[in-house]
Amino acid sequence: MIQTQDLMKVYQMGDNEVRALDGASFNIENGEMVAIMGPSGSGKSTLMSIVGCLDVPTSGSYALDGLSVENMSETELAEVRGRKIGFVFQQFNLLARTSALENVMLPLTYAGYSGKDRLDRAMKALDRVGLSQRTHHAPNELSGGQQQRVAIARALVNEPSIILADEPTGALDSKTGVEIMELFQSLHKDNGQTVILVTHDSYVARHSDRIIRLSDGRIISDEANANPIKAGTPRVEE
Ligand SMILES: Nc1ncnc2c1ncn2[C@@H]1O[C@H](COP(=O)(O)OP(=O)(O)OP(=O)(O)O)[C@@H](O)[C@H]1O
Ligand SMILES: [Mg+2]
Repeated sequence: MIQTQDLMKVYQMGDNEVRALDGASFNIENGEMVAIMGPSGSGKSTLMSIVGCLDVPTSGSYALDGLSVENMSETELAEVRGRKIGFVFQQFNLLARTSALENVMLPLTYAGYSGKDRLDRAMKALDRVGLSQRTHHAPNELSGGQQQRVAIARALVNEPSIILADEPTGALDSKTGVEIMELFQSLHKDNGQTVILVTHDSYVARHSDRIIRLSDGRIISDEANANPIKAGTPRVEE
């Protein structure tokens, strides 16, 4: 469970202070699927990097599964990240000229798994995202949607309890974006993973059970979405 209270993140830019987060408080239960929305510069990525233990807040508290992370050292944060969190980005961030399989095995190499274990786990993750037929393709031999699936498999391979995705559909056409959202929905339903994603697209956001809106580093709304869009529903443009 994610519990935050009064998160502040202040960047000093010369004489100016930028309040990227200005007192955000929220809890996210295990297994929730939450979308974060808000204009550019409202603090969404800053929030994700704190929740993902990539960074610590300037002040305020953050407990992850009961463990206070706001004052952890770099090493301690890295340990929590490796154990609990999988990241997905807008631009996939895959290694070029490196097969899908090797891209997915990489986090396991860092985590010290043996060769056979690595291969089995990476194959299982690629199978989970529907790419068991593409394991030897390099990123430039895959479509955008397939590349994002490889990135999701890489995020899954350590079996994290939380998946954080910063605009995971931002570089994809809308049909492929919806397929990626359906994949997140099935991970959340079948594996009980907590999924937190940032999006500018309200149709994408409505695939989640809850939508948090940020403005100027503050939460301006936090609402349950009683009827998340389900797989196979045709997109209706507003
Ligand atoms: N490392 C940094 N140093 C200084 N200012 C920063 C830094 N990172 C972010 N900011 C500032 O903090 C504010 C929030 O940035 P953030 O990246 O969280 O916004 P965002 O909501 O993710 O925007 P976008 O939708 O464009 O990705 C912005 O004003 C930004 O300029
Ligand atoms: Mg951002």
